[in-house]
Amino acid sequence: MARHGLSDLMNKGDDVAAPIPFAFPGGEAQTLRAEIMAALARVVDGNTYILGPEVATFEKSLAGSLEVSDAIGVASGTDALVLALLALGVESGDEVITVSHTAGATVAAIRMIGAIPVLVDIQESTYCLDPDALKGALSSKSKAIVAVHLYGHPANVEAVRAAAPGIPVVEDCAQAQGALWNGRPVGGRGEVSCFSFYPTKNLGALGDGGAVASNDVGIATRVRQLRTYGWTMPQYAELNHGRCSRLDEMQAALLSVKLKMLPDYVARRRAVAARYRGGLSTLPLILPLEKPGASHAYHLYVLRSDRRDALEQYLSRRGIGVGRHYPLPVHHQPGLAAGARIPVPLTVTEKIGSEILSLPMFSTISDEQVDRVIAVVREFFA
Ligand SMILES: Cc1ncc(COP(=O)(O)O)c(C=O)c1O
Repeated sequence: MARHGLSDLMNKGDDVAAPIPFAFPGGEAQTLRAEIMAALARVVDGNTYILGPEVATFEKSLAGSLEVSDAIGVASGTDALVLALLALGVESGDEVITVSHTAGATVAAIRMIGAIPVLVDIQESTYCLDPDALKGALSSKSKAIVAVHLYGHPANVEAVRAAAPGIPVVEDCAQAQGALWNGRPVGGRGEVSCFSFYPTKNLGALGDGGAVASNDVGIATRVRQLRTYGWTMPQYAELNHGRCSRLDEMQAALLSVKLKMLPDYVARRRAVAARYRGGLSTLPLILPLEKPGASHAYHLYVLRSDRRDALEQYLSRRGIGVGRHYPLPVHHQPGLAAGARIPVPLTVTEKIGSEILSLPMFSTISDEQVDRVIAVVREFFA
């Protein structure tokens, strides 16, 4: 199957004054159109549309790429978290510790099974869970920790484990597919890890999709059973809280095509981040960093400025797509905060909320587009 060089991935012949989107989910699929159409035709002709050969093939390749024994395709990243927690035995009333500064889905998943989210602070350097804050959040009801590799920077899972010995760690890798920690892909250090194939993600589907990965055969087996009604054999629901949450054959077929390109996509995101750093490092901004041992996957490029609102408006007015990740932490959103426990101050979470701004980041952005973003940011500070 033909592989495409990075130059094929970039938008060609852009009018540099044209608007620059914040994300461009169609770009990668359009570049791979012929291969994707062939894969989809194979599904149409195959006459099996749920849990067939395409899902099995994709699961095997995904597990290989993550260096884990098992990967299980499910309907979304949120469902991956729900099924991972259920497979760990988390039940209604148990506490699950995570961060308030994350996509709402992380906490929504905890609440969906009736568990109590316990929200802790993040590190100011990486925006990931602060292991020191974790110590003050443990209780006799703590049943799991969800460590989010936010924006694509790996959370320090070893430090999390050391701060909370014996409590299983779920890695939320939704934003970090392709990130490395000490040379190994994220997703293999917790008991179980969760991925999202939402279209803008580093490995994006053309619709919803997600996966659970694990080196624990027991957990993997339970996730497989829970995704299909809790069946341990056809039409025999043995597990409590079974769901219907399956990756479909169409998404699996195209994800198999795109998975081969993931290293190139992530390399391109990293090159874009390096270009942003080169152009912005002399400005009064806090740029994302990489901790020693980490290889950031740059799902998002989030900088900080004490003039965030003005900068955001300046960029938007000049046609540059920007975002806030996230506009409000979880504990300020009533639909997520209800029933949550907040045992330690969320100092960093509160502080950075008014400073964060995400610049355009996608693998098919051209160098010219990146340079234009840099030029407009520089113009703002001039
Ligand atoms: C950190 C994080 N966790 C979980 C999810 C949920 O993934 P999905 O949208 O596929 O359900 C997302 C997606 O936005 C995410 O960014």
